[in-house]
Amino acid sequence: MQAAIYETYGPASVVELRDIPRPEPAEGELLIRVEASAVSTADWRLRAGAFPRGMWLPGRLFAGLFRPRRKILGTDFAGRVEATGAAVQNFRTGDSVFGFSGSGGHAQFLTVAADGPVALKPLNLTPQEAAAVPFGAVSALVFLRDVAKIRPGEKILINGASGGVGIFAVQLAKHFGAEVTAVASRPNHAMLQDLGADHLIDYKTEDFSHSGQTWDVILDTVGATNWTQARAALTPEGRYVPLEFGLGSIFRALFVNLRGGRKFRIAVSGDKPEDVRLIAELLASRKLRPVIDSVHPLARIRDAHLRVETRHKTGAVVVAVAA
Ligand SMILES: NC(=O)c1ccc[n+]([C@@H]2O[C@H](COP(=O)([O-])OP(=O)(O)OC[C@H]3O[C@@H](n4cnc5c(N)ncnc54)[C@H](OP(=O)(O)O)[C@@H]3O)[C@@H](O)[C@H]2O)c1
Repeated sequence: MQAAIYETYGPASVVELRDIPRPEPAEGELLIRVEASAVSTADWRLRAGAFPRGMWLPGRLFAGLFRPRRKILGTDFAGRVEATGAAVQNFRTGDSVFGFSGSGGHAQFLTVAADGPVALKPLNLTPQEAAAVPFGAVSALVFLRDVAKIRPGEKILINGASGGVGIFAVQLAKHFGAEVTAVASRPNHAMLQDLGADHLIDYKTEDFSHSGQTWDVILDTVGATNWTQARAALTPEGRYVPLEFGLGSIFRALFVNLRGGRKFRIAVSGDKPEDVRLIAELLASRKLRPVIDSVHPLARIRDAHLRVETRHKTGAVVVAVAA
């Protein structure tokens, strides 16, 4: 099979297309023929070794100290079940599925645990649309529901609202009954209004922290804010939730949270199977929809990496794996 392989950290050019043996599913696994995948910000960070400030060592210990431990990137996938391991009962050959693979989506085949973060693909989505969902939607779900603990009627400001996580954070915050202020550059405002944003701020011309307004939750998906700015714009019981944070923020959060009042919440999102299934239901009932920035064939996956590392994509950068 063809796969995009990287054996060393570096620029997009370290990713090479190679022919390698097809994986075999273990007893409890599915073999997926991948139709589409995505290059997420996580894939870019792992390929470039681009970890936030102070996180180089933890990042490298996770990904491989001197060279990448897993050589095929691609957290998100959509495709068909090609074969099932002997113990699999919940999926059948031919099922159209999507989900998280941890890695391996940038290849023609991958294996995934049948009881892992994989679900039947909603019929109303193409494989490319479904591949544009898992990383952004599950991260947004976990950060809003479990970390920010958003409640109906609360006011939330989402910074980086047009990015891979942001477009789902806007839709899910509305789904949870919040009033949403989306911060994005002006060309993305119409799209965000269409996704449900109540108010819009152009970060290029307006600083939300000097607007005189306050929010119950400030969710920052791009690492463009800090505690001092956020604190000034939080209600007395407000929560600041940055998705991108360095070592300094972790210590700051520990210190801030010793006191009562405003909270500084640091967390990492998971990949629970039930969350992927919930996202699948919301997609099927059209309460959630993906936004695709661009689609690149597997043979030109380096272009997808280059687009992601600009940090100016809108939604997801998709990789078309099937011919
Ligand atoms: N902690 C965790 O577990 C976790 C989980 C998921 C993701 N993350 C991290 O969260 C981050 C977000 O990922 P993502 O995929 O959503 O990012 P992304 O797609 O790369 O974000 C790009 C978007 O950010 C906007 N943007 C750029 N600079 C901005 C600024 N100064 N102010 C406001 N918006 C700005 C861009 O809009 P314009 O083009 O209009 O500028 C673009 O639409 C990544 O660093 C990722 O590693 C962490």
